[in-house]
Amino acid sequence: MTYGSVLSVFVFAIAGLAAPSDSGTEQRIRALLGRMTLEEKIGQMSQSTSMARLTDEFREQIRKGRWGSFLNAGSPADRAEAQRIARTESRLGIPLLFARDVIHGYHTIFPIPLGQAASWDLSLIEQAARTAAREASAEGIRWTFAPMVDIARDPRWGRIAESPGEDPYLAGLVGAAMVQGFQGPDLKNLDALAACVKHYAGYGAAEAGRDYNSAWIPEVLLRDVYLPPFRAGLDAGAATLMTAFNTVNGVPATGNPFLLRQILRGEWKFPGLVVSDYEAISELIPHGFAATPRDAAREALKAGIDMEMVSTAYWDHLKTLVASGQIPESLIDQAVSNILRLKFQLGLFDVTPVAPAQSHVTPESRAIAQRLATESVVLLKNQDRLLPLSKSVRSVAVIGSLADSPVDQMGTWVMDGQPADVVTPLAALRRMLGDDRVLYARGMVNSRDSSKAGFPDALAAARRAEVVLLFLGEEQILSGEARSRAFLNLPGAQSELVTEIAKLGKPVAAIILSGRPLTFHEVADQVQAVMWAGHPGTMGGPAIADLLFGEAVPSGKLTVTFPRTVGQVPIYYAHLNTGRPAPPTELGIPLGNPANPQGYTSKYIDVDFTPEYPFGYGLSYTTFEYSNLRVETPVIRRNGMLKVSAVISNHGTLEGTEVVQLYVHPVAASVAQPVRLLKGFQRISIKSGKSETVTFNVPARDLAFHNQKMQLVNEPGRYQVWIAPDSAGGLEGQFSLEQ
Ligand code: BGC
Repeated sequence: MTYGSVLSVFVFAIAGLAAPSDSGTEQRIRALLGRMTLEEKIGQMSQSTSMARLTDEFREQIRKGRWGSFLNAGSPADRAEAQRIARTESRLGIPLLFARDVIHGYHTIFPIPLGQAASWDLSLIEQAARTAAREASAEGIRWTFAPMVDIARDPRWGRIAESPGEDPYLAGLVGAAMVQGFQGPDLKNLDALAACVKHYAGYGAAEAGRDYNSAWIPEVLLRDVYLPPFRAGLDAGAATLMTAFNTVNGVPATGNPFLLRQILRGEWKFPGLVVSDYEAISELIPHGFAATPRDAAREALKAGIDMEMVSTAYWDHLKTLVASGQIPESLIDQAVSNILRLKFQLGLFDVTPVAPAQSHVTPESRAIAQRLATESVVLLKNQDRLLPLSKSVRSVAVIGSLADSPVDQMGTWVMDGQPADVVTPLAALRRMLGDDRVLYARGMVNSRDSSKAGFPDALAAARRAEVVLLFLGEEQILSGEARSRAFLNLPGAQSELVTEIAKLGKPVAAIILSGRPLTFHEVADQVQAVMWAGHPGTMGGPAIADLLFGEAVPSGKLTVTFPRTVGQVPIYYAHLNTGRPAPPTELGIPLGNPANPQGYTSKYIDVDFTPEYPFGYGLSYTTFEYSNLRVETPVIRRNGMLKVSAVISNHGTLEGTEVVQLYVHPVAASVAQPVRLLKGFQRISIKSGKSETVTFNVPARDLAFHNQKMQLVNEPGRYQVWIAPDSAGGLEGQFSLEQ
């Protein structure tokens, strides 16, 4: 795109913007801009991470308006003092904006986002974000870099832990719930955090799951899969957006006029603040997109980055870029307006700053954390109904370092959670059963340990116990940013430990704590029960103990496919059918030959092509039966509503909660559509022996997809529809959509 065309898109975008804030605020912004020097403007566009302490040098810089925002800065007292200086001692009194990665909690740590999503409980997810906002804002933070709404379909990518999973519809709803929770009813409230949907866009599509790697995403996939969760987060009111580190189809997301000017500002009319990721502007150079920091600054600003995080290309070069006429000052004014607008919306100019108070984990925040952890655990296997265990059990062996590791239990991106606040499964089990009945052995020093030195102790504990609880998985440092893995197996000597323990013939339940789907087929085969608990946060221990002993009934369902082997990756439920779909049971070397293509289907010769556990999957201690599917609207129109219902019956002896899912598939479309797409879900509680009719109303417009011309269309034709317990099963019906 030439500079001229970028500018015309930009002008169009501005003209089309929805009224971004009230006219009073716009007037104040204009008045302030009119008084600002170019340097002061560029200062506003700069975010620093280096203020570990409020030194004299920083005091002076703040007085001069050198910084608009700080990331991860100082103590609460430093932040308050820095704010006082900015407001009362800088020339124009423009307040600072303090940002932090409040990703899944602040002091109270909730499950990692991949775990939270597995609860499918949007209102609880919102409450967790609200709690985090209260705790963080009390300490002077008003901007969080969350939610991450990157679609993640590759468990090798370490940041899948931070993602709501593989599905755009669910990710959009989870992201929107977090936005509402962080921001609360009004950004002006002192306990509101401005949310930031990130990383725009395609960061989760990193080739081969290697962090920061290139993403090649056809526009139709971008528009149908990768972008909708961003749109949903912005529609929920997210005040800010962060660009991604990666290239998208060869153009870095941080210098991408197509993503930023055309789609974000032009089509979606986003009026808020766009921040780069950490040094992503200077990284335009190693990307091979800019030759010098000056070029990087120019390209990033032209594309529409309002604030530069950490690197200093803007500060170092925007002034001369304006002087030489390469950048019109109006572009800078636009960026600064977006920054000032947020500061006004947060009330930073008007509210008398309150002294920061140290916030704490409270009984209320613990209760939310425990409920969310309980709902996020997914029961994957429960042979012979080993679980729930009886509390009259003589003794349990608790084996594995992850049973008693507060830091690992909290998971990635925890900056303010205190290990001392964490209740581990070991502590919770001891509290529940008494110390005498709980025999603990680490087995291995940590999850990566390849030494078998701890095996004898673990085996001795297992021998003495009636039941063995094996805590397996991944430590905190194995997932998150820059933690891509090429293997998805349980690290270290864990599999060998399981085999040794299984030989004892005791009942074994495995609880897997990890930041990603892992492959543990052989392990699951050797034990009676398996639960996936993600990294469940501060109250993960009591949540797991309650689930193991039937104080709570599992209800979580996976929001990402668990593969059988890393060789199947990427694997996700919403794939296309191909021209040669294989029957699920077909395996092995084809019998035919190209001239007689028997068995020439889309599969592997050495492993089933189906996943180990599909998207949407999760067991309960009770049994739900699906029956009586009724498509109440066999024909719908483009502006109409699909209405489908089914009866869900609880045939077990316990009350339980089921996440009932609705999927659709257009049978023939101008761009082939996934075999199934999630279009609705409901979490319902059903008492033992009772049935409930679950009805879905889906507006036809929610069934739209992008055609070959990239228009969002409702194509007429026949559609399949399922009401299902997961993406692989369920009851199937049909309807048609007419123009
Ligand atoms: C991450 C972002 C994060 C930022 C600030 C980057 O490395 O990609 O997600 O918000 O750092 O800490």
